[in-house]
Amino acid sequence: MSLSDAARKVRENAYAPYSNFKVGAALRAPSGQIYSGCNVENVAYPEGTCAEAGAIAAMIAAGETEILEAYVIADSPSPVPPCGGCRQKLAEFAKGEVKVTLATTDGTEQVMKVADLLPGAFGASHMENS
Ligand code: THU
Repeated sequence: MSLSDAARKVRENAYAPYSNFKVGAALRAPSGQIYSGCNVENVAYPEGTCAEAGAIAAMIAAGETEILEAYVIADSPSPVPPCGGCRQKLAEFAKGEVKVTLATTDGTEQVMKVADLLPGAFGASHMENS
């Protein structure tokens, strides 16, 4: 299955009764395996989790720690941008040049790099004096 098909498929399982905004994310890791995740909302709103976080958790649970490519899809008027927290989460496991495709369910895609999503990212190098 392609990264886009995986993201599109998992999006259907999103639990989003509060926002009605279903998001799907899929990641490709070095083994070639694809990990996918969807948003999971909660009646205590801040406890909800994003699609990207779910996909990353699945990848880590499977024993992989590197993202080679990512795809995020939602039924939005323009390609869905990852939220700020998800940009930092992606940057934890993806090099700056990693391709992230933002997509709408009707087929519009925008390709970005992780470094473009999170310019001036906080990283481990900033803690070197600690
Ligand atoms: N959402 C994601 O899953 N990923 C993003 O990067 C943007 C936002 C979800 C969170 C919430 O369940 C819904 O979209 C509306 O914010």
